This record gives sequence, structure tokens and C-alpha cells, in this order.
Amino acid sequence: MSAILPPAERLWWKHPLDRVEGTWIVISLIWCLTMFAMMVGWHIYGKQNLSTETYKTTPELFSTKTQAMVDKYTVRTETEANIPVVAPPAGGDVYMIARLWNFWPILELEKDKTYRLHLTSMDYNHGFSLQPENINIQVVPGYEHVIKITPNKSGTYSVVCNEYCGINHHTMVSRIYVK
Ligand code: CUA
Repeated sequence: MSAILPPAERLWWKHPLDRVEGTWIVISLIWCLTMFAMMVGWHIYGKQNLSTETYKTTPELFSTKTQAMVDKYTVRTETEANIPVVAPPAGGDVYMIARLWNFWPILELEKDKTYRLHLTSMDYNHGFSLQPENINIQVVPGYEHVIKITPNKSGTYSVVCNEYCGINHHTMVSRIYVK
């Protein structure tokens, strides 16, 4: 059967494979495998696609850990909602809660130090989008997402929720300071 002309008989799948058809199947298969290898390879060799670790958690458990960090390392508060700005020790675990409609607390990190950033949502699906680095993570309730981050430039980074989460989704923004 030709790969270009319509099939001569209705039961086209019983015809032997045309050479052109077979060639295209092989080409697409090779391309599929190439893309699959790139997907895995990019996690290892790329600088951007973070691999997250994910664990089960509960809002209570996660807030306890976050509250402990906030109680210990808050340096000031910011915004109208008095969100604490927390400067935890370099190299440690840092926590951030996403909920309707803010991120809590604000983190102040040190340049060239590695942190384990833990994220969860208290209610619905939110997104953690770190700009301008363009790092994007889904924040799912009931799960604790952990990413290893090493900020290499000082400045103020924007955190934006990029999953539609209700009427005030557009106000769900925060920041991370790097000193
Ligand atoms: Cu949270 Cu959109």
C-alpha cells in the first residue's frame, strides 16, 4: 500500500507495510526516543529543570515546621498583611506555604549558599513560579515538594502563582531576597 494514496481496500490495516510508511514510522520512533533521552538528560546536564522530591504531608505538620522557622529567624515584617521576612541559616531547610492568596513567609537567602526549599499548599493547587529565573513548580495540597536551590545572583526575585486558584489569583505574588 502506498503511504500517499488512499487505501484501495477498506481493510487497509491488513495490507503489507509500504517502504515509505515504514521509513516514517522508524523516523518518528527515533525522534520519540531522542526526545525522551533529552528529557532525562536535561535533568542531569541542564541548569534549569529542577528535580523535585515529593513527600506526603498535612497542613498541620507543615505549618508546625514553617512556624518554628518563622519564630526563630524572622528579621522584620513586610507588606500590608505583615508577612514575616525570614533569614534562616545558610545551607538549611527553608519552608514556604502557598495558600489563598499569598505565599508565607518571605525568605531572605544568602548568595552562593544551598538551601532545601520545602513547599506545600494549604488549600488548593497553586503554582510556584520564580522570576526572572523561570523556575516553575506545581504546589499541590497534601504534598511537600522539596527543591535544592543555590541562588547565584543577589537581588529581589519574584514569586508568582501560575495556577489559577480563584478570584484573587492575580494578587498571589511574593518575593525572595538574595543577599
Ligand atoms: Cu494561587 Cu493562583
